Amino acid sequence: MLDNESFMKFADAIRKKLNFDMSGYKIERMKRRVDFLIRKYGFDNYNEYLKLLDKDPSKQKEFFDRITINVTEFFRNPDKWEKFKRYIEIEMKTTPRGTIWSAGCASGEEPYSIAIMLEEMHASPINYKVLASDLDPNILEVAKKGIYDKKSLVNIKESVRDKYFKKLEDGRFQVIDKIKKRVTFKRQNLLADPFEKNLMAILCRNVVIYFEMDAKEKLYRKFAEALKPGGILFVGGTERIFNSRKIGLEPIEPFFYKKMVNVK
Ligand SMILES: C[S@@+](CC[C@H](N)C(=O)[O-])C[C@H]1O[C@@H](n2cnc3c(N)ncnc32)[C@H](O)[C@@H]1O
Repeated sequence: MLDNESFMKFADAIRKKLNFDMSGYKIERMKRRVDFLIRKYGFDNYNEYLKLLDKDPSKQKEFFDRITINVTEFFRNPDKWEKFKRYIEIEMKTTPRGTIWSAGCASGEEPYSIAIMLEEMHASPINYKVLASDLDPNILEVAKKGIYDKKSLVNIKESVRDKYFKKLEDGRFQVIDKIKKRVTFKRQNLLADPFEKNLMAILCRNVVIYFEMDAKEKLYRKFAEALKPGGILFVGGTERIFNSRKIGLEPIEPFFYKKMVNVK
């Protein structure tokens, strides 16, 4: 049976088995995605699918691929990246060292974009670092390899591309080690795990679309706490934070918030 009650039991089993809690997500969407996989295998109940997940790690990979949407590209919304760069330039004048965090980094294009941006700004790799995290362990492996199709590099000028990527024989591009070394990847669940503190900027873009309202509010509060005063939060196009001042985030313009000074 694929009823809601059975799905909730399935979700509970997944939490224990794969350490992934679906409770912060819009549950109908999650159910739709899982049900698609269940039908694909010709099952009519969640238990058989759980057994399959137990037996076959490649099916666990497929499960994560299906429920987390990993679409991304380098310098997504390039005009906003120009603005982001300007905010960081200003921040750097008063912040001799700092970390920029890509929260929900998918296959790595976003954190490597930050690393390229910092390199282009001649920011010391010892003082300015990039942290990148995602829930999906498989996508993190892809990110660490740093190999991309030409189409995900459309927003990068050829002259910049040639500096920071190696062209592979199969026509794809690999991020050079100098850029890779600037980024630390880790697996992290934004809805459950603790955050670093005193961050110079956080990018969390196109991640919260599947989160419930409560989960989103809690997340933005945690982001506000994780930023240093004056730190920047860079979100996705449709991701407005309601009453952001209440949690200490000043809206500066669409896509950007600044942690208010005098707020702890
Ligand atoms: C569409 S990608 C966004 C990539 C990039 N930030 C961008 O805007 O291009 C969404 C990513 O969020 C990750 N994600 C979803 N839920 C998450 C959670 N609870 N904690 C951490 N990452 C999560 C997914 O695994 C996926 O890789």
